[in-house]
Amino acid sequence: MLLLCRTSDLDKTSAKSVTIQHQGRSVDIAVVRNHKGIYAYLDVCPHAGTPLEWQQDRFFDESGTYLMCATHGAQFNVHDGLCISGPCVGDSLTRLLLRVIDGEIFLNNDSEG
Ligand code: FES
Repeated sequence: MLLLCRTSDLDKTSAKSVTIQHQGRSVDIAVVRNHKGIYAYLDVCPHAGTPLEWQQDRFFDESGTYLMCATHGAQFNVHDGLCISGPCVGDSLTRLLLRVIDGEIFLNNDSEG
């Protein structure tokens, strides 16, 4: 498992941008939190492939309810990454599995998920 960040890193904006190396490439990941839990997605919008992040560690819309793409404003559910508004309604962000242990958030890339 790969350590992404700590839960305390989410305190300011309920989100944290993390870049990892995967097969020789840099991959940007959005780690986000709401009242239900902590989730992670590739920071790639299904509409045009651009990052969601609109400022450092800012992924939520003004209401703080949905994730919002910086490019054309698509909105996504926090808990499943489904686009519910904007040009890619019905598409989803790519979700990554996490494990949270003692305040540390790990990418769970075990084959069993
Ligand atoms: S690239 Fe995200 S809404 Fe267009």
